Amino acid sequence: MTRLSGITPSGPVHVGNYLGAIRRWAREGDPADLYFVSDLHAMTTPYHPQKLRGRTRELLAILIAAGIEPDTVFVQSDLLPQLGPLTWVLECACAFGEAARMTQFKEKSADRSHEGTPVRVGLFTYPVLMAADILLQGADEVPVGDDQAQHVELARVLARRFNGTYGEAFVVPRAVTPPAAARVRDLADATRKMDKSASDSAGVLFALDEPDLLRRKVKRAVTDSLARLEYRPDEQPGLANLLEILGACLDKSPREVVAGFSSYGEVKDAVAEAVIEELRPIRERTLELLADPTELDRIRAVGGARATGRGSHRLTTVLRLAGVA
Ligand code: AMP
Ligand code: TRP
Repeated sequence: MTRLSGITPSGPVHVGNYLGAIRRWAREGDPADLYFVSDLHAMTTPYHPQKLRGRTRELLAILIAAGIEPDTVFVQSDLLPQLGPLTWVLECACAFGEAARMTQFKEKSADRSHEGTPVRVGLFTYPVLMAADILLQGADEVPVGDDQAQHVELARVLARRFNGTYGEAFVVPRAVTPPAAARVRDLADATRKMDKSASDSAGVLFALDEPDLLRRKVKRAVTDSLARLEYRPDEQPGLANLLEILGACLDKSPREVVAGFSSYGEVKDAVAEAVIEELRPIRERTLELLADPTELDRIRAVGGARATGRGSHRLTTVLRLAGVA
């Protein structure tokens, strides 16, 4: 069984990405799995090439530092020679209306922050590239957040359609979504999920933030004036978010961790220390890897070669069945 998932370097990694995705991949990962940095996705909206290159390396280093088996990690663009042709084949299997229905496209193309800049065709076709990521590797399971489940569904549809029309080439994948409680929210506004591309990062705990900065951000977290130490997500969303983060760091439920505190200040101190301790080894290892570009390049090349090797046979079959090789 192969699991595959990707994470986009659209901004620095935050504690939500770590607790909700990366730590899970590191803990549950199997040597047959694949985890990658989807740098091509970051090109679908305006971006800076140098920043993208840097963030891609940083994210690759974080995945490895978090303990994901280095052989199973790769960078999406290292597979461009295979993903390019496969995306084209799948675009020719995808109806315009199917792509137009994607909620993320509708939301992002309407995003006011990009007003004035044209919506890129790549933003529209990206879900087909994502299908190529998944289908090239013959992934069985794709762990993603709810927002990506629709894209995995499209990959299923395209795999079935190709198999039915031209011949069996693809494994039909399925999405696996983590429990809803894994949604970490912004510390400054608990109605928003913690987001790496948020314009204001005061409430976003980045994986590479210095301990002092993490402490300050947690101290400033918005709570309420009820002075009730209970886990009540609807009535006290800010406090509930802190308890969820603390619980995730300690592998306990938010209800378990709330017992024993007598003030919000104490909760914040405990959250800050738990997050700092959780992130410390990852931050240190990431900085070491980034300081040794030769080693990082070597690891990147090994992962890229493994993923390329896995995909090449399937791509050959697909092109032959499609009548173009
Ligand atoms: P994104 O930052 O949207 O590229 O998400 C990358 C991965 O991190 C996905 O698997 C998401 O489910 C996970 N993720 C993103 N934001 C959060 C959050 N606030 N809480 C928990 N998981 C998150
Ligand atoms: N689009 C995904 C995101 O933004 C990242 C991604 C790209 C992905 N390709 C993938 C996830 C393939 C799972 C499988 O989060």
